[in-house]
Amino acid sequence: MDNFVWSIPTEIYFGKGQIERLGEVAKKYGSRALIVYGGGSIKRNGIFDAATSSLRASGVEYFELSGVEPNPRVTSVNRGAELCREHKIDLLLPIGGGSSIDCAKAIAAAAFYDGDAWDLVKDRSLITKVLPIVTVLTLAATGSEMDPVGVISNMDTNEKRSIGHPAMCPRASIMDPSYTFTVNAWHTAAGTADIMSHAMENYFSPKKAYLQDRMTEAVLKTCVEYGIRAIRDPNDYEARANLMWAGSWAINGTLSAGKGVPWSVHGIEHQLSAYYDITHGVGLAIVTPHWMDYVLSESTLDRFVDFAVNVWGIEDGGDKWAAARDGIAALRDYFKALGIPMTLHEVGIDDKLIDTMAENLGGSLSRGYVPLTP
Ligand code: NZQ
Ligand code: ZN
Repeated sequence: MDNFVWSIPTEIYFGKGQIERLGEVAKKYGSRALIVYGGGSIKRNGIFDAATSSLRASGVEYFELSGVEPNPRVTSVNRGAELCREHKIDLLLPIGGGSSIDCAKAIAAAAFYDGDAWDLVKDRSLITKVLPIVTVLTLAATGSEMDPVGVISNMDTNEKRSIGHPAMCPRASIMDPSYTFTVNAWHTAAGTADIMSHAMENYFSPKKAYLQDRMTEAVLKTCVEYGIRAIRDPNDYEARANLMWAGSWAINGTLSAGKGVPWSVHGIEHQLSAYYDITHGVGLAIVTPHWMDYVLSESTLDRFVDFAVNVWGIEDGGDKWAAARDGIAALRDYFKALGIPMTLHEVGIDDKLIDTMAENLGGSLSRGYVPLTP
């Protein structure tokens, strides 16, 4: 296990009705909040009203940035930064999934930068200050509610890149699983696949760490148990609650502690999203089983056997190769059962830009679990 620093400064308010605490929590960090949200789901399902009534009760003034895209664009970040300066915002309050939260994280830094926010994405050393962030999570997927990273897209240059700073870790997050009842089957499936992918990126990395690896298996088993349940019954509170908490733990730094995670599949998916604007979790679910087939070898075999036996309950039976392949097949079958297409073709991607995307990745995956060339 490598050396590591473990710190998660985010306060979590988890469970039904926690939104009532929002005003009191927000007030600790600011008095003029910018609410950042997407295409309007929070207005249709009542979350916006619940949030703003709590803010009003605590005397927190609020302004709005709406229309943040899934795969949030840098143009939205620039719009948000402008609003921060105009209204002297002192707190970012994203309400939504990873896209709204990530956009708010970038805005929190861009508010202090006199230029295009894309500069900060390309060069983190330009980040001088970050406004505090409090989130209200409405979709279990990215873990952005409890990590210091955001992912921003620039469709002019076909780039999707992460931005990060320790101060981008939310100060607090409100996590009410019942807020995810209205997430449709497509995004529930994609979110589950994203959580599983974060866990698998940690699991299939060069270093082992016994405790972290067993915890990772637990996160994966939680998704296997509850992802399908949430699809079958969107109002299943236990399913939504377990997915939501698994989402935070998959990427909050606990599973990766001491491991040096190479994020190979995410690297590939970010290329697909940058050119085709596909749903992140769907891209991951398509790529992962193929990537697994490709990296399975004598040297990775034992890890794949652990995956098959400990996550999918497959009997080793003395034939390690058969067990490993059965584990990959079980994952593929599970994604299919969630209703996710299993080929790029089905999401409208042909081979026209494959070489370009592979070249863009260049040598960035050369330190992967298994080193990859274009
Ligand atoms: O925009 P609205 O109207 O809110 O609708 C959204 C959006 O259409 C909808 N939705 C969210 N909550 C809902 C709801 N619909 C009904 N009821 C609710 N309660 O779901 C759609 C997708 O939302 P989005 O925020 O885009 O999804 P997700 O949370 O999966 O975020 C995806 C983005 O996060 C990035 C991805 O690359 C992608 O850009 N990631 C962020 C990470 C991080 N910060 O650490 C790590 C991840 O690996 C990932 O890269
Ligand atoms: Zn992800």
